[in-house]
Amino acid sequence: MKPNFCVNIDKLRLKNPVIVASGTFGYAEEFKDIVDLKKLGGIVSKTITLNPRKGNPPPRTCETPAGMLNSIGLENPGVKVFLKEKLPVLKKIGVPIIVSIASESGPEEFVSLAKQLDKIACIAAIELNISCPNVSRLAGVPVSRCADKLISQDADSTYALVNAVRKVTKKTLITKLSPNITDITEIASAAQTAGSNAVSLINTIAAMSIDIEKKSFKIASGVAGLSGPAIKPIAVRMVWEVYQKIKIPIIGMGGIMNTADAIEFFLAGSSAIAIGTANFINPGINVEIIDGIKKYMIKNKIKGLKNLTGGLII
Ligand SMILES: Cc1cc2nc3c(=O)[nH]c(=O)nc-3n(C[C@H](O)[C@H](O)[C@H](O)COP(=O)(O)O)c2cc1C
Repeated sequence: MKPNFCVNIDKLRLKNPVIVASGTFGYAEEFKDIVDLKKLGGIVSKTITLNPRKGNPPPRTCETPAGMLNSIGLENPGVKVFLKEKLPVLKKIGVPIIVSIASESGPEEFVSLAKQLDKIACIAAIELNISCPNVSRLAGVPVSRCADKLISQDADSTYALVNAVRKVTKKTLITKLSPNITDITEIASAAQTAGSNAVSLINTIAAMSIDIEKKSFKIASGVAGLSGPAIKPIAVRMVWEVYQKIKIPIIGMGGIMNTADAIEFFLAGSSAIAIGTANFINPGINVEIIDGIKKYMIKNKIKGLKNLTGGLII
């Protein structure tokens, strides 16, 4: 038996359901000698903004007992350099490229970026990163030092943003949600109502580590984003909750380190999955998980991914 491994999310066609998560795979060229990039289901590029950003001051990452903290602060070269230097390299790989965008100045920047990307044929989809915990509206000021709220922490703001972007692009729109919220289903519903074609969840969880010798934060910005195995049960719970509430597909992520983790996300309701922190340990893990899911489906006589998504027996 050859299981149907394709996923269709609006116009986005994935030959398999394994995507690399934004910010954990650079612009892919860094991995070309060690990973067979053609085998990936899709690539979400590191989030870009209109203007270049230097990101937050170091240290920006540290290990935790079951994961890592990061506060990169959306370091990126800005859309112009991305389109000129990074996108041509990504395009050559031959897998769907999903471009992640964010704003440091307000919703208008999302709209302006989406308008620019809409004209470019090789971009398969746009992911709206309205959930990065490490930036504020004030460029370069870590969120821990100001009172700004993320767009994805408010249903009305999420609706307004997605709706505004929807008006300027026909590309497949994916809205990336924050776990730093009481009820993630309200935000997912707002994204759906506003015209998002899918939601991806979860971004990192706001967290902190302290160096007891220096009596200071381990990450310069103080509060940072936790990712990796520690957040997986929270992410699986959130995918399951969102799956009950919305009809658009879910791209599930958060601590996926192996095939079994990935299968949990499908059973909870994901149509596709993304792998982030695991790339820092073994960039080949994506391909291993693609093969692993296939084997699981054959072993369990599952004809297509649709039969796996939401297959949790309650
Ligand atoms: C170092 C690092 C950088 C990240 N940068 C971004 C980013 O630029 N945009 C984004 O949407 N998510 C970013 N993320 C979040 C991941 O895409 C992912 O949502 C999160 O880490 C949970 O998945 P994981 O546990 O598999 O890493 C970043 C995560 C890490 C660890």
